Amino acid sequence: MMNEAHPGYTEGITAVYPGSFDPATNGHLDIIRRGAGAFGRLIVAVGINAGKNPLFSASERVQLLSEACADLPNVAITTFDGLLVKFARQQGAKVILKGLRAVSDFEYEFQMALANRRLAPDVETMFMMTSAEHLYLSSSLVKEIARLQGDISVLVPENVEVRLKERLLVQSVAPLGKSEEPGV
Ligand code: PNS
Repeated sequence: MMNEAHPGYTEGITAVYPGSFDPATNGHLDIIRRGAGAFGRLIVAVGINAGKNPLFSASERVQLLSEACADLPNVAITTFDGLLVKFARQQGAKVILKGLRAVSDFEYEFQMALANRRLAPDVETMFMMTSAEHLYLSSSLVKEIARLQGDISVLVPENVEVRLKERLLVQSVAPLGKSEEPGV
């Protein structure tokens, strides 16, 4: 996006938007769309965090995000492992973009931002306030509502709704831990 006061100021800046995205919600998509408008290039980075026992594998999460962001030409979706700031530097990104919901997000995000700045002072963490309608939204909440057969159609993109319902159906037939596929 062109900044009229400083033409070209943000258009060359690459930002990384990291997260688990297990799965992506409309809150994530809101930050991605606004981030794509604010930066020249936005890399959505799906963290491979084995300890979290995700519902969707990293490649599935990338696939779901890629489908939901298909109309955004300056957005790339990929996975990352290890230190976020190292990944950001490898990508030539000057900015780590994070979404902030409520006050409860602040302490954790503030700690991460300070740690990341200590590790890489050249990479700036920037926060974008979530839109009001997504203040309460999280991937965990979406999964819980879906498991209890609540309506998630206004909480996630359509492709995520479909895949989430399929995944939970598979899980109800083959309970967690019985499958050999990661995330299934
Ligand atoms: O959506 P989440 O679960 O809040 O995403 C967390 C994520 C992936 C952004 C965070 O775990 C992360 O940055 N992991 C990379 C490891 C790292 O760099 N740790 C040091 C940060 S202080």
